[in-house]
Amino acid sequence: MVKERVIRENWGTRVGFILAAIGSAVGLGNIWRFPGVAYENGGGAFMVPYLVALLTAGIPLLIMEFTIGRRYKGSAPVAFRRLNKNLEFVGWWQVAICIVIAAYYAVIIAWAAMYAFFAIGQTWGEDPATFLFVDFLGNGNVDATTLAFSDFGEWVPNLTLVLAAVWIVTLLVIGAGVRKGIESTAKVFIPLLVVMFGVLVVQALTLDGATAGLDAFFTPDWDQLTNSTVWVSAYGQIFFSLSVGFGIMITYASYLKRKSDITTSAFTVGLANSSFELLAGIGVFSVLGFMALQSGTPIDEQVSTGVGLAFVAFPAIINTLPYAAGLFGTLFFGCLVIAGFTSLVSIVQVPVAAVEDRFGLSRLQGTIFIGGAIALLSIVLFPATNGLMLLDTADSFINSYGIAVAALISIIGVVWLAWKWAELRENANRTSIFKIGHLWLVCLGVVTPLILGWMLVDNIRTTIDNEAGVDSATLTYGWTVAGGALVLGVLIALVLRRKDVPVLVDEAEAEAEAEATLTGGKEDTQ
Ligand code: ALA
Repeated sequence: MVKERVIRENWGTRVGFILAAIGSAVGLGNIWRFPGVAYENGGGAFMVPYLVALLTAGIPLLIMEFTIGRRYKGSAPVAFRRLNKNLEFVGWWQVAICIVIAAYYAVIIAWAAMYAFFAIGQTWGEDPATFLFVDFLGNGNVDATTLAFSDFGEWVPNLTLVLAAVWIVTLLVIGAGVRKGIESTAKVFIPLLVVMFGVLVVQALTLDGATAGLDAFFTPDWDQLTNSTVWVSAYGQIFFSLSVGFGIMITYASYLKRKSDITTSAFTVGLANSSFELLAGIGVFSVLGFMALQSGTPIDEQVSTGVGLAFVAFPAIINTLPYAAGLFGTLFFGCLVIAGFTSLVSIVQVPVAAVEDRFGLSRLQGTIFIGGAIALLSIVLFPATNGLMLLDTADSFINSYGIAVAALISIIGVVWLAWKWAELRENANRTSIFKIGHLWLVCLGVVTPLILGWMLVDNIRTTIDNEAGVDSATLTYGWTVAGGALVLGVLIALVLRRKDVPVLVDEAEAEAEAEATLTGGKEDTQ
């Protein structure tokens, strides 16, 4: 076993860590995905499966990931390797998943950044759908929705430049380090996001028709609770939204001091993320209610998710706002940029920290090599006229067959194969005010794997049902992305099988322990 003394950076403060973890969780998934998913799956009644998913899967898994990160002090592959040699592949699999997500996630941030400017004078004109798909993404000569994976057309020049800028800023933040880069950014951006989003929601609530929109959002359709798809959607939303199953929370927690509280942080992050999501639902549905009133059409005709909601429905609504339309638009897209950016930083940190820890690279080298490679991949592939198609397919396959399956395997490996649940529980409880017991184990070890297993079966069924309408090149690409991530994870772990990971000795911690001995046990608990 290699013994090395390596200084591992720590978060400067506990608040800094929590803000960074909230910054990772609150992202595009909260603002543009949640409202539509909730509405389509029973409106107010969706809150039931959603809260059950948060409490039975989201928070228990978050506690597991925080504890693994802090206990084994490493990025995902190194932490899993220290936990059990055979589980290193899960960490590399998560690294590969993060590479795929980062590559397309950055493009949506670049779209949002451009739309924040378009909003000032409503550049999208009277027909935001044509503007988005033909003028903007189709370079003015094709409809981006009609292109397939194999139809590489041409790059969209302005988008490519803005995307390059998104990457430069992201890599600068990561390169600056955990405290100076990630923590400082979160401390500025998360409060700013809360204020901006608060103003936006208040403005939305004052619109005519807002109450009807909220009625539509909160009126429960209880029948939906017997529909398994609704439950699968709730669990899927929680995993993506809470950033669990990607290796992010393991990586972030690896910079925690040994004495920091785990469970309270997990509850704080989980509840903050869901509150933000709920706020997004309230804001979006107030606005949809307004639109329904203006156009005289029912609310369900206004509802869409993802690209359609943010880049078509919202611009159309902004066009009709009675006052401060430009401000509203810029605030909305600005919120998407900020929320997305702090999440992107956390996603890219996973591969960067992995190569740093496993190959002994410095932060700068890791950022330049691996961060630069992802940026290049993102810039080459996605700001092209067929980028929308590439993005949609990558997103759907990596969510269905990446995050959720990696989470399932990680739980089975940690709880059932490596049998580490008792050790992890004890480790978390030792420093946490709120103690976890059997309920945590039942949720993590039994309920979550059963639901995730069911989700996998359901996703496979949906993919097969939809296969008829999708061209084969697109399907091959989707399966290559999702399967490739797993294969890459396994291959890297096999190659590294004989290369032991260094035993990290945390200098800060060694000092704190020495100091504690001198001062009779009064330690910094962060
Ligand atoms: N958790 C991040 C989001 O919601 C990835 O977008």
